[in-house]
Amino acid sequence: MFTKVKQIFNFHYYSCIFFIKLIHALEISLSLHHFNYKIHKIMSNSQVKFYSGENIPLELHKTRIVQKLNLVPIERRLEALYEGGYNTFGLKTTDIYLDMLTDSGTNAMSDEQLAAMMRADDAYAGSQSFIRLQKAVKDVLNAEYFLPAHQGRAAENILACAYVRKGNLIPMNYHFTTALAHITEKGGQIVELLYPEAYKIKSSHPFKGNMNLEALEAYIQKHGKERIPYIRMEASTNLIGGQPFSIENFRAVRAIANNYGLRIVLDASLLGENAYLVQQREEEFKNTPLADIIKIMTGLADIIYFSARKLSSSRGGGICTNNESIYKELEALVPLYEGFLTYGGISIREIEAMTVGLYETQDETVISQSPAFISYLVNEADKRGISMVTPAGVLGAHVNALDMCSHLPQTQYPAGALAAAFFLISGVRGMERGSISNQRDEYGNETFADMELLRLAVPRRVFTLSQIMYVIDRLTWLKDNREMIGGLKFVYEPPVLRFFMGRLMPVTDWPEKLMAKFRKDFGDSL
Ligand code: F0G
Repeated sequence: MFTKVKQIFNFHYYSCIFFIKLIHALEISLSLHHFNYKIHKIMSNSQVKFYSGENIPLELHKTRIVQKLNLVPIERRLEALYEGGYNTFGLKTTDIYLDMLTDSGTNAMSDEQLAAMMRADDAYAGSQSFIRLQKAVKDVLNAEYFLPAHQGRAAENILACAYVRKGNLIPMNYHFTTALAHITEKGGQIVELLYPEAYKIKSSHPFKGNMNLEALEAYIQKHGKERIPYIRMEASTNLIGGQPFSIENFRAVRAIANNYGLRIVLDASLLGENAYLVQQREEEFKNTPLADIIKIMTGLADIIYFSARKLSSSRGGGICTNNESIYKELEALVPLYEGFLTYGGISIREIEAMTVGLYETQDETVISQSPAFISYLVNEADKRGISMVTPAGVLGAHVNALDMCSHLPQTQYPAGALAAAFFLISGVRGMERGSISNQRDEYGNETFADMELLRLAVPRRVFTLSQIMYVIDRLTWLKDNREMIGGLKFVYEPPVLRFFMGRLMPVTDWPEKLMAKFRKDFGDSL
């Protein structure tokens, strides 16, 4: 009897001690989490105030490996333009000073990423590097199943092969060039459902990438859910100026999708920055860590795909989901188009870089840098009377070519002309994001873009602030001489994704005249 009582006493005594210890451990971990989060918040560069009151984005990284740049004379830049078919994709980096073509595969990599690349476990199948990546996808994007693909458009191809059939309709907030091309190639059609505010160049709307909910519902009712394989949401709509959508809007899209039994595909290529702007601009999330915002967003989609060239500052891409049957529907296409399931066409070293890059996507000091520099560029240019897409978004600053080149008809490609002119007078390579980036309709007619933009990409942690100031300075000069910018015409126009390989010519000798004016104003300056 006594031993029995003693046993019971011992059991309760040790259970009590165990629970007290557990609670204590939890408390410590919770308070540490809170403490870490506080430190983290303080380290985000948007928090650093200058005594002068100036709004200067402060870098929270240092440069340890540098690459020499070339700023060649304007005369050489004119030749380079001619050689490249007046298409900035045709230029070579030997002629380029600041390469603001894209952030795709050009974000600066971290010391941790480079270190991880050294331990790559090269194996055709079952590589440990891939297992680490799977874990990162689970930890960061909260998705159980992951299919690797060599880049974002390869993921788009797999999704289009699996789901898009002739006559299908894909509603989306806005298209991206390669997403559109894969859908139309399979006989599908896209429809863009943004609110009118999204098309206003100058706006203070924090979420111009929001899906137009009323239009979405009406569209599904009109065409029937049977024709719609999925709804596509692009985090930070690239082509309208890198504009984010809110979680409130995404939740509402989810509710509509649930009502009609439709799937949602999230293009997460620019998810980190979209999540950062949610934290900055959406009241409900202003104290939510970036890592949690990212998971809330991925949790609202059935399928998530991304270009790792953007999302994780590496190369590669992939598709992830928590739905096993979706995984099964897509699985066989990866070995067919990309490579075996444990590398998907990505080099194993890059898989290691992707893993670390995904974790770094949760770090505000990494993710806030590009939007902070873009915001500086946009606001300073705006103050100087240059028409910019506002509010500043992600990926890059966007100059409104319809204003800068208001004297040019859209048939002469104002955004392409502005990109060429800006390279000529600065050595800065931007990208046309206007009608040249659009594809012709099925009858061969031009489909003019909603916006004619010159995109000046600001890859993560690549440029210095004085380089951004140079961009602002040269943009200001070009604005003051904008009447001298002339039009372009195609001399070679490929049928698909013409903006990549197309060749153009100026319609008059405006580049020579613009160069002469530059020499007059700048003397022998580069
Ligand atoms: N989705 C979005 C939103 C993108 O911005 C891109 C690429 C892709 C998909 C395709 O990914 O290049 O890895 O095949 N955007 C790059 C850019 C090309 O410059 O904006 P990818």
